[in-house]
Amino acid sequence: MKRMQFLVVVMLVVAASVASGCGGGQEAPAGEQVAVDGETLLEERCTECHDLERTTSQQKTRAEWEETVSRMIDRGAELNEEEKTVLVDYLAENYGP
Ligand code: HEC
Repeated sequence: MKRMQFLVVVMLVVAASVASGCGGGQEAPAGEQVAVDGETLLEERCTECHDLERTTSQQKTRAEWEETVSRMIDRGAELNEEEKTVLVDYLAENYGP
């Protein structure tokens, strides 16, 4: 009888630790913004006034891209500071001279 009770307790402990081991901790924190990537920004924010090719046909240094993107923001492109940095990095890496 004693032995049976012990087994039940062991099983419950194992089941509980398995249940909390998986699932818990893996979930993304609610409300946190998904990191933006340059490619998505380019496709979503830089195709409103002209097509993608206007951008992808160019080859510029990082400084030149920074200048261009700043000018586009002046014209009305919607990018915050963080998004601008991500996009300029992406452009410089993929569409450099
Ligand atoms: C509000 C409208 C608008 C948006 C949004 C916009 N552009 Fe432009 N873009 C223009 C206009 C107008 C021109 C032509 C005049 C000029 O070059 O400034 C242009 C020209 C360009 C050129 C060619 C001229 C050059 O300097 O090489 C590039 C490259 C460019 N845009 C990239 C971008 C990128 C990258 C984005 C996203 C951050 C973007 N644009 C978003 C309006 C826009």
